[in-house]
Amino acid sequence: MLLAPRQSDLGLTVVDSYTPTSIFEMDAHSERTEIIMRSIAIINQKGGVGKTTTAVNLSAALADQGLRVGLIDMDPQAHASLHLGTGPLGTGMQQEQPTVYELLTGDVGLAELWQPVGEYLSVASSHIDLAAAEVELAGVVGRELILRDKLALVEDQFDYVLIDCPPSLGILTINALSAVDDVFLPLQPHYLALHGLSKLLQTIDLVSKRLNDRLRLAGVIMCLYESGTRLAAEVSADVEKFFCEAQTSNSPWQGAHLFASRIRRNIRLAEAPSFEQSIFQYAAQSAGAEDYRALADEMISLYAGQSTSPTVKLAA
Ligand SMILES: Nc1ncnc2c1ncn2[C@@H]1O[C@H](COP(=O)(O)OP(=O)(O)O)[C@@H](O)[C@H]1O
Ligand SMILES: [Mg+2]
Repeated sequence: MLLAPRQSDLGLTVVDSYTPTSIFEMDAHSERTEIIMRSIAIINQKGGVGKTTTAVNLSAALADQGLRVGLIDMDPQAHASLHLGTGPLGTGMQQEQPTVYELLTGDVGLAELWQPVGEYLSVASSHIDLAAAEVELAGVVGRELILRDKLALVEDQFDYVLIDCPPSLGILTINALSAVDDVFLPLQPHYLALHGLSKLLQTIDLVSKRLNDRLRLAGVIMCLYESGTRLAAEVSADVEKFFCEAQTSNSPWQGAHLFASRIRRNIRLAEAPSFEQSIFQYAAQSAGAEDYRALADEMISLYAGQSTSPTVKLAA
């Protein structure tokens, strides 16, 4: 049974029980009701908070459920690509394979970038060259919207597209924010977790006003969670309070969902990249795998519960 998200005592949207459901639902006449592609940017301008680990393993968890997932690596460090073996020097990388650098600076479409890393998961890889894109795009009119226009051409090919963003708020992140509907914000529970958040929220606000009025902060994910510690509990409470107070702000982060599924600190998650494997390939029974599976289930339920979503359409 799917429980609709409820308002917590503090006013935050919380889902406290959920069952995995497909985003495909059958109606009385067995026609498939299909939700079109959901696009999500995983953003925090701080490094080391779990963006890439979340982008990779959440993508893999969704793909494991038979959902078609595209993962776009927008970080010149190419950690997500390397994690899945499609980055520079990775075993899956073809010599002439175009990357997100060519996507943003050249006449190349996303269709030419996808590298399959499983039946349902494809990666658009990054390259260190992408670090130069900021400068190279400086004089280009409409440079903020390149990814949006190219993503629009593949939207019938995926159920979810996740974008792993660099730890900055430059042109790469702006391209991601202009292209997606939703932002997921991974936070590490330490006392500076909320420090610098206002700059990020300001950026989301600006992009939503000027470039992409669909944009909203949809989810906040606690990563690297040390369960059982007072620090983690206190910071989680602060985060909940912060987003609770934003409920009346009429901002793109009003209604942000604090995921009940927290990602515990788990060494298997840190080990998996060196084997070029998702956590489900590397250690399917680990706490890390359990947490990302739960996060994917919660996410699917969250979207399925948004029955008034304008993105619901009837498939032919
Ligand atoms: N839940 C976790 N448990 C243990 N290690 C983690 C976890 N999440 C991330 N890490 C490790 O922490 C480091 C930073 O994580 P990463 O996802 O790369 O952050 P970001 O992309 O925000 O810079 C990496 O070495 C990663 O393997
Ligand atoms: Mg990263």
